[in-house]
Amino acid sequence: MKIRILGSAAGGGFPQWNCNCFNCSGVRDGSIRATARTQSSIAVSDNGTDWVLINASPDILRQLICAPSLQPARAIRDSGICAVLLMDAQIDHVTGLLMLRERSSPLPLYATEQVFADISTGLPIASVLGHYCGVERHTIHPDGQPFVIDPLAQISFTPLTLSSKAPPYSPHRNDPHPGDNIGLMITSQTSGKRVFYAPGLGALSPEITAAMASADVLLVDGTFWTEDEMITLGLSKKPASAMGHLPQSGPDGMIAILDTMPASRKILIHINNSNPILREDSAERAVLTQHGIEVAHDGMEIQL
Ligand code: MLT
Ligand code: MN
Ligand code: ZN
Repeated sequence: MKIRILGSAAGGGFPQWNCNCFNCSGVRDGSIRATARTQSSIAVSDNGTDWVLINASPDILRQLICAPSLQPARAIRDSGICAVLLMDAQIDHVTGLLMLRERSSPLPLYATEQVFADISTGLPIASVLGHYCGVERHTIHPDGQPFVIDPLAQISFTPLTLSSKAPPYSPHRNDPHPGDNIGLMITSQTSGKRVFYAPGLGALSPEITAAMASADVLLVDGTFWTEDEMITLGLSKKPASAMGHLPQSGPDGMIAILDTMPASRKILIHINNSNPILREDSAERAVLTQHGIEVAHDGMEIQL
């Protein structure tokens, strides 16, 4: 099984178009040691030709230009993307669907009932696509039962409920339902190896903790270093928890949780542009290194 990190940044990307924080200005003018990153998305394959796209970022076209393995060119119009799976209906995870509209057949789309509802009402991307390639709906039940996505016969996807919120535009933003947001265990039937993927992880239930403890690779929420990072930098009034993200530092933070996990690789993903871990020579990045934690970058590949 191969996983390619197409986009490792949170919503907004790095640098964010209108942001002049230390990190965003620094990566623009080359005054800090950091690499630009596009918005949150990964692709999974068992044969290196057929890929399931997990989340469709608004940066998808640029991500595909940088990923020739997703373009096998078997016909005059063709793509390695055989299906898309959505983990929530946030803008950074769904708006790239519109860029796939030139397909000549309906796009196989895997999402929960709640996500399908949001992308058919508050942000009606699925309905809009109906006027182009159309969507072949596959409903995910976040009940912990594994399923496969054709033609990736050797990989199973196990959806797990995460406690979070529907996106701000959702008609049920203030009425959370299981399925607004899922985590995924991605298992290779060939190697038996498991990757736990959750780019947004605000709180750990006993089920999520158990799933993380059973994974060989953890690819988890790396959005913020501290709870009040955006507030301190004057970027937003929202703390990390209000956005459904668990910060890395602190006694109950992601680092403390990852320290208890036996996984052979622990990788942070969905990194916000305000996060000091983006600077390769920062003290915060050194802390991660001491704890054996990696920071995902665009183009990173994981082979299992
Ligand atoms: C989030 O996960 O909190 C998002 O990145 C926010 C957004 O895309 O607007
Ligand atoms: Mn996001
Ligand atoms: Zn910034």
